[in-house]
Amino acid sequence: MTQPSVKVGPDLAMPLLGFGTWQLPGQEAYEPVRVALDTGYRHLDTATMYRNEAQVGRALRDSGVPREEVFVTTKLPAERTGRERETISASLRALGVDQLDLWLVHWPPNGSARPETWREFVAAKRDGLTRAIGVSNYSIAQIDELIDATGEAPVVNQIPYSPALHDQKLLAEHRERGVVVEGYSPFRRSDLRDPVFAEVARAHGVRPTQVILRWHIQHEIVVIPKSKTPDRIRENFDVFGFTLTDEEMARIDAV
Ligand SMILES: NC(=O)c1ccc[n+]([C@@H]2O[C@H](COP(=O)([O-])OP(=O)(O)OC[C@H]3O[C@@H](n4cnc5c(N)ncnc54)[C@H](OP(=O)(O)O)[C@@H]3O)[C@@H](O)[C@H]2O)c1
Repeated sequence: MTQPSVKVGPDLAMPLLGFGTWQLPGQEAYEPVRVALDTGYRHLDTATMYRNEAQVGRALRDSGVPREEVFVTTKLPAERTGRERETISASLRALGVDQLDLWLVHWPPNGSARPETWREFVAAKRDGLTRAIGVSNYSIAQIDELIDATGEAPVVNQIPYSPALHDQKLLAEHRERGVVVEGYSPFRRSDLRDPVFAEVARAHGVRPTQVILRWHIQHEIVVIPKSKTPDRIRENFDVFGFTLTDEEMARIDAV
């Protein structure tokens, strides 16, 4: 199956559905990541702060899935600004890879854009340590500050997203700047008992959680659900066999 993806570089495709690994510290990450890769996920989201890069990397190697088939993201904790190169080197070592696919500034350092850090990101990409660079939890104004300072836009902004947080204007502002929106916490930011999800799910014979993931994908918003539960990991990947109608999309937009 070719998975739907979005272009984040001349030769780089980011699968719209990825596997989140927050709150799977250390060894707790290993089995879920193995299950995710066996299921077919080809995009893993970790961070220095999650303290599981080594286990994510080991699961990736043990899975037998070729490295180049998996999109790997990790993130610089904002308090490591000033130590960017040291931190990406530690991430590469822990993950056991030569190059990241995407490196993100995890959140704005001290609440500001910090172009100095972004310059280090541009340099890390230039030096081949990562194929793409982006940010997380940045505002549009902060993204503009980085673009003004360096001429280089983040390819991704990873932000909280869900139907309840849906904001067409914010999506358009990212797209105008060529920034892909990657949503996090799709379930934690949703009322899973909302009747709209239940009705749409019933119409397709799927679960409300699957409707939420499918909605992101049809909006071309990257989505990275996390689960430690094998059946849920598999269920969350099983979202390519149905399509929401325009009317269903509009109903969910309004939740
Ligand atoms: N950049 C940032 O600042 C930031 C912040 C937050 C998250 N993230 C990233 O985004 C990923 C996802 O966000 P998240 O972990 O906050 O939350 P999430 O994926 O919205 O929700 C995870 C929770 O939902 C449960 N769950 C998963 N699948 C389910 C299903 N099919 N049915 C019912 N419950 C289900 C999980 O339970 P079990 O695990 O017990 O199955 C877990 O409690 C993170 O793992 C991380 O990679 C980034």
